Amino acid sequence: IKRVTTHRLSEMKLRGEKISMLTSYDYSMASLVDEAGIDIILVGDSASNVMAGHETTLPITLDQMIYHGSSVVRAVKRALVVIDLPFGTYQGNSREALNSAIRIMKETAADAVKLEGGAEIIESTNRILSAGIPVMGHLGLMPQSIHKYGTYTVRAKEEEEAEKLMHDAKLLEEAGCFAIVLEKIPAALGKQVASELKIPVIGIGAGGGVDGQVLVLHDMLGITQKFSPRFLRRYHNLAAEIKGAVGNYIEDVKSMDFPNEKEQY
Ligand code: KIV
Ligand code: NA
Repeated sequence: IKRVTTHRLSEMKLRGEKISMLTSYDYSMASLVDEAGIDIILVGDSASNVMAGHETTLPITLDQMIYHGSSVVRAVKRALVVIDLPFGTYQGNSREALNSAIRIMKETAADAVKLEGGAEIIESTNRILSAGIPVMGHLGLMPQSIHKYGTYTVRAKEEEEAEKLMHDAKLLEEAGCFAIVLEKIPAALGKQVASELKIPVIGIGAGGGVDGQVLVLHDMLGITQKFSPRFLRRYHNLAAEIKGAVGNYIEDVKSMDFPNEKEQY
């Protein structure tokens, strides 16, 4: 199998071939997602919500991200694997940022790291890039800053924030990031950023004018049930399937249908 590389992703943008990206947090799911042919697997800090049940992405630790990341990397044969640097491991101190990124790369064997922010974290981004570690940027709605926004609503609807976002996107491209995620912004702005940058721009709630799309796996499979933003298309109702199967099992145990003659020694 030919592995997806950052170089191949930029070729895809040149060709106008859209890039597919989903999250995964464990070995079993990552194997399935990779075998289905996804281009990029993101070990997102959304693991904090989806795997651990926290309200926000803030509590997840570097050690926990490394546990999820190394599990995913063991499963993946084709996709490019990107791991989120969690809150508090790269902001404000570029030396600490580099150490965090080095730990991720050494202890998981992932392909790249992702950081939220533009100008505020550019020193950290530069330092990580100078160590030869590929970096994916993340602008627009940045869930690690939820306490600054106070809401998960659409970002950059106003001129000032849109201009800062465009400026940050160019800053990240100039620094050497290989791609950028744009989360929950107007479609017109997403399209504009994608057309002004040479590197691929991957959107989540950023419209169809960007170079690729990303969703949280458990959301698009319909495992999570409460979270229903407009940008989320559900490709399955796995919650119902899982509850149905578990319900049937319980019934069979209670009725002594399971195990039958052939299912014992
Ligand atoms: O953590 C995550 O799942 C993400 C994606 C939503 C881009 O950062
Ligand atoms: Na994230």
